[in-house]
Amino acid sequence: MCGITARVGSDDSLDPLLTSLQNLEYRGYDSAGIAIQNGTGIDINKREGQVSELQSELAAGDVDGPVGIGHTRWSTHGPPTDDNAHPHTDCHERVAAVHNGIIENYTELREGLQARGHEFTSDTDTEVIPHLVEERLAAGQDPESAFRDAVDQLEGSYAIALLVDGDPTVYATRNGSPLVIGDGQSANYLASDVPAFLEFTDRVVYLEDDDIAAITPEGYRITDVDGTPVSRPVETVDWDPEDAEKGSYDHYMLKEINEQPMALRQTLHGRIDGSDVVLEDFPPGSFEDVSNVQFVACGTSYHAGMYGERLLSDWGINADTFIASEYAAYPAPVDENTLVIGVTQSGETADTLEALQRARDRGARTLALTNVIGSTAARTCDDALFIRAGPEIGVAATKTFSSQVATLVLLGERLVRDVTGEPTEGHEQRLRALEALPENVESVIETTDAEAVSRRCLGDNGHFFIGRGSAFSVALEGALKFKEITYEHAEGFAAGELKHGPLALVTSETPVFAIGTGQHLNRLESNVREIQTRGGPVVAVGPRTASQLAQTADEFLPVPATHPDLVAALANVQLQLIAYHAANEMGRSIDKPRNLAKSVTVE
Ligand code: F6R
Repeated sequence: MCGITARVGSDDSLDPLLTSLQNLEYRGYDSAGIAIQNGTGIDINKREGQVSELQSELAAGDVDGPVGIGHTRWSTHGPPTDDNAHPHTDCHERVAAVHNGIIENYTELREGLQARGHEFTSDTDTEVIPHLVEERLAAGQDPESAFRDAVDQLEGSYAIALLVDGDPTVYATRNGSPLVIGDGQSANYLASDVPAFLEFTDRVVYLEDDDIAAITPEGYRITDVDGTPVSRPVETVDWDPEDAEKGSYDHYMLKEINEQPMALRQTLHGRIDGSDVVLEDFPPGSFEDVSNVQFVACGTSYHAGMYGERLLSDWGINADTFIASEYAAYPAPVDENTLVIGVTQSGETADTLEALQRARDRGARTLALTNVIGSTAARTCDDALFIRAGPEIGVAATKTFSSQVATLVLLGERLVRDVTGEPTEGHEQRLRALEALPENVESVIETTDAEAVSRRCLGDNGHFFIGRGSAFSVALEGALKFKEITYEHAEGFAAGELKHGPLALVTSETPVFAIGTGQHLNRLESNVREIQTRGGPVVAVGPRTASQLAQTADEFLPVPATHPDLVAALANVQLQLIAYHAANEMGRSIDKPRNLAKSVTVE
């Protein structure tokens, strides 16, 4: 949600800054901009539209210099226009700032600045920042103290990078929005997320809330609010830069769907030992005090949490799933034996972080199940368990869902063993099926008929997805994926709920995707007939062995027959492909669907 980047070197920074912005575009893509120290002042170029449009504009000019900041925007305050694009500056163009987050007291700050003669050119909350800094520079303060004092005035959530004319330094701070320094050889970097500069350096330093960083060509200094130096560890990221590139694929989403077998192998690597689960930071007994589990998450991660909840409940553990934004406002009761698991790919989703904070404040134990080492969730929860899916760039989450589900199965096995002293029933078969999950996903990808089926099954009036148990969570996920990239109406239901209302919507223009896990198939088949009786075409997705379901449905997308707990994860891959091919056929912006952004860092 908005991408910030900066580069401080002694050679030209424009090209690396544009590369970083492109790498960050998944965080927002309605406008982009760059500010560069050019030796005589700060040169700002910004515009509505994607980074490629900014890039073509800049190619024609001679803008360059060693120190610069950049921004790709997902609008919060003010529509996506050239004026509202970042960087923002003050009346004298002495300062340039980029910002991610929301300044809650900006109206009050803006009115004060206006009363003191400052003129504003945008509708954004961000614009108060350069004005506040400039005011202090004009009063004779040095850049760092001017920045520090201006930040002190801000309320809300933010990550900020700022340039002052004539000073070869980028100043940065954060409060509730991520920022990471890239410690390079010939230049230093700053960004909202590591993929921005991964091709330039893999040495990273995560900033904490209220840190003030001053990044120069030679290095960086980090201090706390009082100006006392603080030390943050330098970590090495083991993501391959190629993982964050599109390669020969038309879309990141397709690349990431195809990467799922590899991602799952990474997720499972070293974590299954015969009939036991080995989770690096969780030796046997780690969860013996847990009496109940609550999942908090948003969107796709919520569906993964729900998948985990269905399995845990089935294995005798008291478990619930909550939409994080609801939980943040209406938290469920917890005690010190409650384990609250924040499922979050990015580890930066504001709603999930807030829900976890609420749980922590009320005495629960929190665990981040995330893809991003060093993310806020990983650092603020009591424990973190990494899904190891590698960087995911497509806004529509795909491989991270599969890796979240696989990690939750592992975690569930460990938890049940710790809480009950016994392994889950059927754990041997389940663990063997988990080991086979990467090759089973591979087989779905290699043999799928989803492209042809998606062409035949585009409805005029809506698309429904139904399932039971873990397949219900996948029905919700299938519908989310379909609506977010096709812009067509799609909705997921518990299969048994259809007859309690939604069946009224079913016509020959509303295809229904029915997901079977191999359990309770006769019930799903009855639902399929109920739909067909109302003229609704049905595409069933289920284990290859479900011959009756295959015969009853109008179309059948098979997945390998495996443990029933893992069938829905395989069916989900078919639904990802259905959504992808339908959106592709419709010419949609698959990797950057309208109005959306990855990593939603505002509430
Ligand atoms: C949909 C999607 C979103 C995210 C949600 C939570 O394809 O990606 O629904 O799942 O914004 O994000 P994380 O997992 O980063 O907390």
